[in-house]
Amino acid sequence: MPTKRSILIVDDEKNQRDILDMILSAEGYRTATAPSAEAALRMARAERFDVVLTDLKMGGQSGLDLLRALTQADSSQLVILMTAHGSIESVKDALRLGAVDYLEKPLDRERLLTVLAQALSRLDALDADLIGNSEPMQKLKKIILKVAASDETVLVRGESGTGKELVARALHRHSPRAAAVFHVVNCAAINENLLESELFGHEKGAFTGAVAEKKGLFEVADRGTLFLDEIGELNVALQAKLLRALQEGEVQRVGSTRVIRVDVRVVAATNRPLEDMVAAKTFREDLYYRLNVIPIHLPPLRDRREDIPLLVERFLARQSRGATHYTITPEALQVLQAYDWPGNVRQLESALKRAALLCEGDTIGVEDLPVEIRQATGVPASAPAPPFQFRLPPEGISFEEVERSLIVQAMEKTDWNITRAAKLLGLTFRTLQYRLEKFGLRRPSDTPSDDAPAAEAPPDRTG
Ligand SMILES: Nc1ncnc2c1ncn2[C@@H]1O[C@H](COP(=O)(O)OP(=O)(O)OP(=O)(O)O)[C@@H](O)[C@H]1O
Ligand SMILES: [Mg+2]
Repeated sequence: MPTKRSILIVDDEKNQRDILDMILSAEGYRTATAPSAEAALRMARAERFDVVLTDLKMGGQSGLDLLRALTQADSSQLVILMTAHGSIESVKDALRLGAVDYLEKPLDRERLLTVLAQALSRLDALDADLIGNSEPMQKLKKIILKVAASDETVLVRGESGTGKELVARALHRHSPRAAAVFHVVNCAAINENLLESELFGHEKGAFTGAVAEKKGLFEVADRGTLFLDEIGELNVALQAKLLRALQEGEVQRVGSTRVIRVDVRVVAATNRPLEDMVAAKTFREDLYYRLNVIPIHLPPLRDRREDIPLLVERFLARQSRGATHYTITPEALQVLQAYDWPGNVRQLESALKRAALLCEGDTIGVEDLPVEIRQATGVPASAPAPPFQFRLPPEGISFEEVERSLIVQAMEKTDWNITRAAKLLGLTFRTLQYRLEKFGLRRPSDTPSDDAPAAEAPPDRTG
């Protein structure tokens, strides 16, 4: 069960705040109240709320101002607006600005709870699509809910395997277009000539091989969503055609002068540096701005390692077969959390699939993890080493020399940090300091030009 959902109630009338607070706390929500938009903004900056429930008309800034400020602050709250007079224009503004819903005053308790539950259940539904509870993932899910409702073009950026396509699908699934088609076009995978007819269609005889007329994907995806993956690979001629489709909602099939109107929402994705391409004039600036109306950036997995345990749990659950339910040892999970994941979530998913196949029982241990991951995180590639065995030094070497050598190694390994070296050797700070003095050991670069006493201990560089 997720933790309690939190709601910030914003109203300049104390009565109204108290009633809402009472109703919502009784329903098990965590609540807080603010008497003005300004106070609400301060609170929302200090603490994360799932929902901000705000009155429209208040002394000082209005609910719309608050909504605008929250959106600008890259906020991660779902905003629900309460309006007394059902002022339709404000409601429209609010929804355009990213409010998820609105309530008319006087408030009806049932409707209040329904609207809240609906907004939050959409958030829960997204949890099933997009695994991860880290701060950036929570924010991402709320942004998806907010922009799904609009028809604006979304540009999803992020390294390979971070979930760009998954986000595009979630945007579609949670949009009013969900009943219509979602189509994926990989602009890098199709040759340029074919891509044009794939996207915009062609007439019979438009080119050799065009034996019949063909609808383009813009026509096929009418009323739906088109996901243009690897948008950076589009050539300049196609960029112009795409811009027209986005701006005018019009396409022309190859070999035709007929203008066809289409109603398609475009989600584009790339991990290429589009800004550099604009500067180098290989990507049209106007198209860039047209695509980038709503940018969504997916952080690499190594920047949200706290998501790894949950991802592992869910991915292993997907691998379960019959009575086999895979688990992972704490050590193996630790290795997965330490790794840098250049291939991001996709790489983690496939590493776990492989590990589940390879592991003998149903517990995945370090030895079941792919070798490149074990190596990169410093876990030996072979089976666990046998218990360490000390070897006798060659004859003629004194115990004192062995001790000195071990101390020098420890000091070098810790960059002459006495505290850490002492820990390595299992000695106290004082004991090690005493031995350093005894052997006259000091950091080589500290060798003084004057004849300071050799017994002086090297400075401790803790911290
Ligand atoms: N947050 C997530 N929760 C669950 N699965 C995820 C998540 N992120 C990515 N995945 C999974 O990882 C794989 C890669 O995701 P996706 O194809 O969306 O990445 P991508 O960013 O489009 O990668 P590429 O740039 O290589 O095309 C998919 O199997 C997807 O389901
Ligand atoms: Mg992809």
